[in-house]
Amino acid sequence: MIIQTISIKSVTAQGMGTLSVFEGSHDVPFDIKRIYYIHGAPKGTHRGGHAHKALRQVLWCPYGSIRIRLDNGREKADVLLDSPDKGLIVEHYMWREMIWEKKDSVLCVAADSYYDESDYIRDYNEFLEAVKGKDLD
Ligand code: TYD
Repeated sequence: MIIQTISIKSVTAQGMGTLSVFEGSHDVPFDIKRIYYIHGAPKGTHRGGHAHKALRQVLWCPYGSIRIRLDNGREKADVLLDSPDKGLIVEHYMWREMIWEKKDSVLCVAADSYYDESDYIRDYNEFLEAVKGKDLD
């Protein structure tokens, strides 16, 4: 399954906005060790262009609109993160690109591991080699 979205629980307080929440292991299929976010990017920004050997992540966009392009080496799919209650689970061995559809959109990421540059695959051909023969969900 290349696209795995989750609906983030959102509680609206009349006239006072909405609180959205998810919990590690309960609402996403892993514990969360690291959070980071990308902000201040102009419209048309392309980021990503890598996969991870082990890292599992959930991506969400609390403000704006960001297109996420996923590729597991066999199929590709696009998902638009354009609502604060939409989350996208990105499993390991998934090539990803993120495209800013609106300036200043904020991309938030919660990950199951600490930052480790050696977990990245940044070369697309190396990624294709790595997924060859793997059993994909
Ligand atoms: P990178 O993961 O390549 O971001 P993107 O794919 O969105 O361009 O990270 C960008 C830079 O930030 C890179 O120099 C590594 C650094 N970085 C950290 O120091 N810690 C982190 O947790 C992350 C995700 C990145």
